[in-house]
Amino acid sequence: MIRLAGLIMSIQLSPASTPMQPRGFERPAVERPLIRLRQVLKSYQTAAGEFPALKGIDLEIGSGEFVGVLGKSGAGKSTLVNMISGVDHLTSGEVWVGDVAVHRLNENQAAQWRSRNLGVIYQSFQLMPTLSLLDNVLLPLDFSGQFRGKRTSKWAMELLRQVELEEHARKLPAAISGGQQQRVAIARALANDPPIIVADEPTGRLDSVTAETIFEIFEKLVHQGRTIVMVTHDASFARRFSRLVWLADGLIVDEPQFQVE
Ligand SMILES: Nc1ncnc2c1ncn2[C@@H]1O[C@H](COP(=O)(O)OP(=O)(O)OP(=O)(O)O)[C@@H](O)[C@H]1O
Ligand SMILES: [Mg+2]
Repeated sequence: MIRLAGLIMSIQLSPASTPMQPRGFERPAVERPLIRLRQVLKSYQTAAGEFPALKGIDLEIGSGEFVGVLGKSGAGKSTLVNMISGVDHLTSGEVWVGDVAVHRLNENQAAQWRSRNLGVIYQSFQLMPTLSLLDNVLLPLDFSGQFRGKRTSKWAMELLRQVELEEHARKLPAAISGGQQQRVAIARALANDPPIIVADEPTGRLDSVTAETIFEIFEKLVHQGRTIVMVTHDASFARRFSRLVWLADGLIVDEPQFQVE
């Protein structure tokens, strides 16, 4: 825990790049919200036919906001954050992040764009099973190429140390627990020092003390100007976001129609 607390310090002290705008944008979107969703529809093809998971989402998120996405299981939270990160393709509508039309990016373009602008924490972690924990954290650094020679394995090891996994660095993901995998996913998402973090239940498998420390890391990042969109079920965190977005049956609703667990 002391080490986790140390991460808060080291993030504060790290030479962060200008966090207010995603890197690589020629024209800063000064007056527009950083993230803009317009009438986003997402349907999945299932054996029983089309299933509408998002039914027309309009959402704007400003630079520096810390947005909590809440809603019942199946409400569409993961689907929504996957649209923002371009991990999945929408059925119709538009997703803009700064000047980038995320909905128009193909898979490769989206991956390249993410590696420079987004830290993504997936609900299912998405660690590479054949790579060690260290190599998993190194992956976004290698992929974006922007930190080559500047922040390499030493930085990745430092991130692993901060989430108390340094001694497991050479292990494969299958050899560690679910909570430990979640912490690797968090370290990986922070590796590129991204201006935007999209996190899907990043503390879902962690005990309350570790979850609190991870949340404090996110608060610190927001304080420094990063923008974070985070799905959570944890009611104790709900009060600490700068804004809540409630989802129900694929739509944004004004008031929660249920209690958060
Ligand atoms: N690949 C898929 N194919 C078909 N249906 C899907 C797929 N992914 C999600 N769905 C459906 O879309 C709806 C929204 O799913 P989503 O994963 O976004 O929910 P969620 O709010 O993240 O739930 P949870 O809190 O359980 O993670 C659900 O009804 C789900 O069954
Ligand atoms: Mg989900």
